[in-house]
Amino acid sequence: DSDVRINPSILAADFVNMQAELARIASADFVHVDVMDNHFVPNLTFGPQMVERIQATSPVPLDVHLMISDADRCAPEYAEIGAASVTFHLEAAADPVALARRLRQIGARAGVAVKPATPVEQLFDVLDEFDQILVMTVEPGFGGQSFMADQMPKLRRLSDEARRRGSRVWLQVDGGIGESTIAQAADAGADTFVAGSAVFGAEDPGAAISALRSAAAS
Ligand code: DX5
Ligand code: ZN
Repeated sequence: DSDVRINPSILAADFVNMQAELARIASADFVHVDVMDNHFVPNLTFGPQMVERIQATSPVPLDVHLMISDADRCAPEYAEIGAASVTFHLEAAADPVALARRLRQIGARAGVAVKPATPVEQLFDVLDEFDQILVMTVEPGFGGQSFMADQMPKLRRLSDEARRRGSRVWLQVDGGIGESTIAQAADAGADTFVAGSAVFGAEDPGAAISALRSAAAS
């Protein structure tokens, strides 16, 4: 898949003006929704009720990123709400392939995420079980952190392997993505880019989205 997708993260949005914030990113491909449980990561955001309201209000489909410990039990609920994609962490799932199958069965794209210290090689034989793989470029938990360029070799190994196998899996990066870092990730094989502060911190989020799109494509 050679398309570029830009998914703004609402973690950087104004939570009490969510409807207006969502309207500002109508030119995005998906809205990235970070669910945190104060256990898998040391931060807490929101749960299924809030995500359901975001789903009802958003002009673009939802890309849900679950940073929660009990992925096997909780992830399907987000697919049932109607999220376009549901990504759980490999470190948090007892049976990642079974969970991905369940998500697809409900009708969502199934995603799996890896933290910076987690190798991707264990996913090589099951690439087809997933619609997207998220390589974290920060330690999950907070927005506004610096992009970890040391994750690029891992991303490149994954993208080489996906190409070798003729896989159509989307490769996503999340953390510290902005105009000055997105090209490195695109060069290493990413096609789907999460950006929080770079979009919602901009005066004109729509212009920020187009700038990221062209920087990723160049
Ligand atoms: C971090 C979250 C990210 C976060 C990215 O744990 O998964 O989605 O919102 O924020 P920025 O783009 O500001 O690094
Ligand atoms: Zn995220």
